[in-house]
Amino acid sequence: MPDIAFVNDAFLPLSEARVSVEDRGFQFGDGVYELIRVYAGRPFRFTEHLDRLEQSARSVAIPVPYTRERWTALVSEAVSRSAYPEAKVYIQITRGAAPRDHVLASHVPPTVVITVRALVPPDPALYASGVDVVTVPDIRWARCNVKSVSLLANVLAKQQARDRGAVEAIFVRDGYVVEGTTSNVAVVRDRVLITPPEGPLLLSGVTRKVVLTVAQQGGVAVKEEPVTEADLCTSDEVLLTGTTIEVLPVARVNGRQIGARAPGPVTSLVMDRFKRILA
Ligand code: PDD
Repeated sequence: MPDIAFVNDAFLPLSEARVSVEDRGFQFGDGVYELIRVYAGRPFRFTEHLDRLEQSARSVAIPVPYTRERWTALVSEAVSRSAYPEAKVYIQITRGAAPRDHVLASHVPPTVVITVRALVPPDPALYASGVDVVTVPDIRWARCNVKSVSLLANVLAKQQARDRGAVEAIFVRDGYVVEGTTSNVAVVRDRVLITPPEGPLLLSGVTRKVVLTVAQQGGVAVKEEPVTEADLCTSDEVLLTGTTIEVLPVARVNGRQIGARAPGPVTSLVMDRFKRILA
């Protein structure tokens, strides 16, 4: 079962896929991406991911070279060529290959890369016990709703989390919780699920939206409103949401225990309902 790549109109084994060193994605991080989970051979919330891909590209003026139908056909072919039932599909569009110049290249075709790899889910024990997270200052730019491949701040913050024995770093800006390096964050207080509102400072997570819906369906009140770092540390429950982790309970923030035990009752309900929509 091979890892598959699609690069500029051709499918090939991932190990043979190449792009130019002059690609602006490589030179400048000048590109956008999506990561989509495949369950039982089917991409999860594909339309929402395509919507966000188009939105990201549009907001940084990168032309999207394919129609919806073509993306759908390409991803479906890539998934079936890989034959992984549980997989992650990565789609990247960069502004293309051109001699290095900060000024936007014109008449340069964008580079499209699609890869499909087997998904290795996080250790199930983490869902049973909850994970450690740490808070870090948000040093990123002010357009984090664009899913840009420029991820240096995220990479450094994630490594800082690992170095501090945690699985995720939560960005905090001006005292307010923003999101994780690869996840959105929600807290529970008095059985109300609260997550920071959408806006330019955070990614509108596909999983975040699903979680808000399933929580409401399960009778949990939800609020999209600012969460301070102090709220985070003193809430009844904390959870992370994201394509690769689904719904992951948090046991400790900066070493401080959250609630009586993780996962707490609301997080358990949301985890359960999330699993059910996958079934
Ligand atoms: N990232 N916030 C950030 C900064 C992210 O990078 C991600 C996901 C999320 C969650 O979004 P979603 O629920 O749509 O996956 C929030 C992917 C998994 C990644 O970069 O690999």
